[in-house]
Amino acid sequence: MSSTVSLIVLTVSSIVVLALKRANRLRPLPPGPPGWPIIGNLFDLQQELPWITYSNWSKTYGSIMFLRALTTPIVIVSSADIAFDLMDKRSAIYSSKPASVVDEMIGWDFALSLMPYGQRWRNIRKKTHEHFHQMVTPNYHSKQMKHIQAFLRHCLADTAKQFDSSQVRQLLATIVLDVVYGIRIKDMDDDYIKNIVETLEVFGESKTFGKYWVDFMPLLKYVPQWVPGAVFVKFAARSRPVVEEMLNRPFNATSNNCITASMLAKIELQPDIEKRKEEETHAKHATGVIYAATVESTYSLLQTFFCGMAMSPDIQQRARQELDSVVGPERLPTYDDQDRLPYVQAIFMECLRWMPTIPLGIPHSVIQDGYYNGYFIPSGTIIIPNAWHMLHNPEEYPEPDKFNPGRFIKDGEINPEIRDPATIAFGFGRRICPGRHFAKDTAFLVIASILHAFDVKPSVDENGFELDPTPQLQGSIISFPSPLNYRLKSRSEAAEKLVRATEL
Ligand code: HEM
Ligand SMILES: *[C@@H]1O[C@H](CO)[C@@H](O)[C@H](O)[C@H]1NC(C)=O
Ligand SMILES: *[C@@H]1O[C@H](CO)[C@@H](O)[C@H](O)[C@H]1NC(C)=O
Repeated sequence: MSSTVSLIVLTVSSIVVLALKRANRLRPLPPGPPGWPIIGNLFDLQQELPWITYSNWSKTYGSIMFLRALTTPIVIVSSADIAFDLMDKRSAIYSSKPASVVDEMIGWDFALSLMPYGQRWRNIRKKTHEHFHQMVTPNYHSKQMKHIQAFLRHCLADTAKQFDSSQVRQLLATIVLDVVYGIRIKDMDDDYIKNIVETLEVFGESKTFGKYWVDFMPLLKYVPQWVPGAVFVKFAARSRPVVEEMLNRPFNATSNNCITASMLAKIELQPDIEKRKEEETHAKHATGVIYAATVESTYSLLQTFFCGMAMSPDIQQRARQELDSVVGPERLPTYDDQDRLPYVQAIFMECLRWMPTIPLGIPHSVIQDGYYNGYFIPSGTIIIPNAWHMLHNPEEYPEPDKFNPGRFIKDGEINPEIRDPATIAFGFGRRICPGRHFAKDTAFLVIASILHAFDVKPSVDENGFELDPTPQLQGSIISFPSPLNYRLKSRSEAAEKLVRATEL
């Protein structure tokens, strides 16, 4: 970074920090790890596995911790009850999202999940909700089912020592492109898949917390490309066209009988041309996020399922007993079986809990000064819910690191006394994930069908020795289990026949 820029950065931040200090003398902030002068906790926040480090800090500083990245106040919440108190009960002021220069430069600022609270958010959220609330998601079952059956046939064909996990990503992209845009794709080499994979890499990179200073010091935006150290400017310039393609290409190729088509049909009734244009843009932004949000989050969840199963033959056994008695050997599971398969549902819940896909949630921001339990929380504070920590609370989930769906079952039913991980893993308050029913539907049928027709086993090396299938959670805003040491084998000849018969 050039010395002039550094000087500006340092001067501006020292002034702001001094002002903050003065203001806060009478208003006690929550406790937290001590920061450095000027930069605060900027470098503390960057961690390899931040949810673990932040979880460790909470043992010292408590369930509500205060940090500072340069001048931006940050509160990390490590208790589900406090997260509900703030983001549910006080949702009028806890439902915004931090404005981000990085997002703006990359072209992510269209994304609902990152959008500050207000009219534009409300409009796009409404469009999303209309197509994904619990009463309409069954409309997508037939498409989900058809693509999941094709996936099962792929699984039969994949007899490798290690399952080709990219098939799972292809399944999810296939489902969402069909449901949202009415687009059919052929295989993994498809340009749509290449583009969505690249887009999501950009997303992960841009959301590695504290990586790009520019979010905490917006002046850096004006650093020209040739200044050494201005990596983010180059990164943004490279990323923008990728994101634009993700947003525009499938939208332009929309065919009928899909969500985009029905959004556009409704908009056509709008007589005012200006309004209609704006509505069209909102529809494009809504569908773009749905597309991106579906692929990676559900991919991560399903990989957790496969790894968890490869580790636990006994759990597969128990699930099969349920499937054998409810579904029987003559057919594959369908959506009508869902309510009668509590143990299969418990497996889904345990995947959400054990390795939460979005372990630190998607941060909210506060739009008004306020107090919580006597602590001052200034307007503009970024709220990070440590979902991983909440879902690994040993008081609610004993032996939290163990993969154990049985923890949710009592007398053969889902035990309502145990907190449903979905109330945490899908976010909070007005910003709760609108795609949660759709995600659950996709995951349910994959989980039930795989367990009904296949054995999930650890993969083997060249000498035929089984590899350890136990994964670690890795990544940034969206995280994944790794490594993926599993393979699939059809359970029986009869099961194989059921899968082949789906082609007819
Ligand atoms: C396992 C799958 C999924 C998980 C774990 C997940 C999780 C989340 C989380 C934690 C948030 C942030 C909520 C907050 O700000 O408090 C979120 C937001 C969002 N999700 Fe999901 N999600 C999943 C699947 C999906 C799917 C399939 C869709 C497609 C419709 C979707 C669409 C969205 C959208 C549009 C938002 C932004 C909502 C807003 O800010 O108002 N998600 N999701
Ligand atoms: C967190 O604490 C545990 C137990 O005290 C320790 O083993 C681990 O290394 C710590 N992890 C990090 C990332 O700080
Ligand atoms: C999509 O269509 C718009 C408007 O017709 C056009 O400006 C844009 O270049 C197209 N984008 C792609 C990726 O085809």
